Amino acid sequence: MGYFFCCLVAAHNIKAGKDAEKQLMCIIAFAYSFVAVSFMMVNTPDFGRSFRSARKIIAIQQAIKEGAQDSTIKDGYEELTPEIAQKEIEFVGVWFKYPTADEDMWVLRDFNLKINAGESIGLAGESGCGKSTVTALLYRFYEPDQGYITIGGKPITQFTLKSLRACFGFVQQEPLLFNTTIMENIIYGKSNATSDEILKAAKIANCSEFIEKRDFDGEGADSTANEEIDNDYRYVDLPDGYKTVCGSRGNKLSGGQKQRVAIARAVISNPKLMILDEATSALDEHSQKVVQEALDAVMTKCTSIVIAHRLSTLGKCDRIVRIERGVIADDYDNRKDE
Ligand SMILES: Nc1ncnc2c1ncn2[C@@H]1O[C@H](COP(=O)(O)OP(=O)(O)O)[C@@H](O)[C@H]1O
Ligand SMILES: [Mg+2]
Repeated sequence: MGYFFCCLVAAHNIKAGKDAEKQLMCIIAFAYSFVAVSFMMVNTPDFGRSFRSARKIIAIQQAIKEGAQDSTIKDGYEELTPEIAQKEIEFVGVWFKYPTADEDMWVLRDFNLKINAGESIGLAGESGCGKSTVTALLYRFYEPDQGYITIGGKPITQFTLKSLRACFGFVQQEPLLFNTTIMENIIYGKSNATSDEILKAAKIANCSEFIEKRDFDGEGADSTANEEIDNDYRYVDLPDGYKTVCGSRGNKLSGGQKQRVAIARAVISNPKLMILDEATSALDEHSQKVVQEALDAVMTKCTSIVIAHRLSTLGKCDRIVRIERGVIADDYDNRKDE
């Protein structure tokens, strides 16, 4: 429309014998500027959104900086190596209440628990009894008010936060997927993963069933993650296979599929301790079954803490510990029935 209008004006002026060449150039230049500005106008809402997001990011960075300065969580001085991380974990006389809670609102009261190396332990108990809090203390998101936690006999306060947290794999009830491809979501757990590692993690997590495949020709298995994965497989459910974009918060995948991608992401970093916090509780019966199979496979590979409301989810655990109002009410050895 703009072009048409400019050409009309130019034609009129040329006809009237004005300095036609210069006029035409000016009008074309003006028309281009007009088009460029209108393209920019289309993106105006995005500018607003970007500014708001940038402001949030800056605020978070500022909060992290300020938090790091006066945080009660002090960094340790020793690397938690994979060798130490796969040793036993012990909670010794732990008392804890959240900093914002009232006096005497203890979540854990003289909590004592020893998790042996390689053991899978199920934490059961009513909602609010303190199961997730046990893992938050292990991550050192909070410090116990009394008592301490050790890994391989060493207090966890001794380890650097980075090395401590890098040893954990974590799968929670509502998986957080990014709006990018399945492959990138899995690789997020290990940025330099090879295609072989991605395929293995996806297999353990029972993802293969919906992402891949048949007829893998086996080539390229040890090269860095890239095109080969797509070339070597035929896909079943998702035509774009590993390159399927997950959508905002993974909304293009079903609940069970999202959870399995999240498990693959946790598995790929080869964690020495896996924490599964109500990982199947939001799923329907069928998805629960396939995801549970994936989790059972994961549990055999490292020490694991499985948190579940339903006892049926803990059937494969070596031990089941029931927490009641911050103390251990039962500690049941599941292996003795086998
Ligand atoms: N960040 C928090 N701040 C204050 N209180 C919390 C926080 N997180 C959990 N709580 C409280 O601590 C108790 C234990 O919570 P949680 O460990 O999440 O229970 P569970 O995982 O067994 O359902 C609950 O009473 C809960 O309301
Ligand atoms: Mg919880």
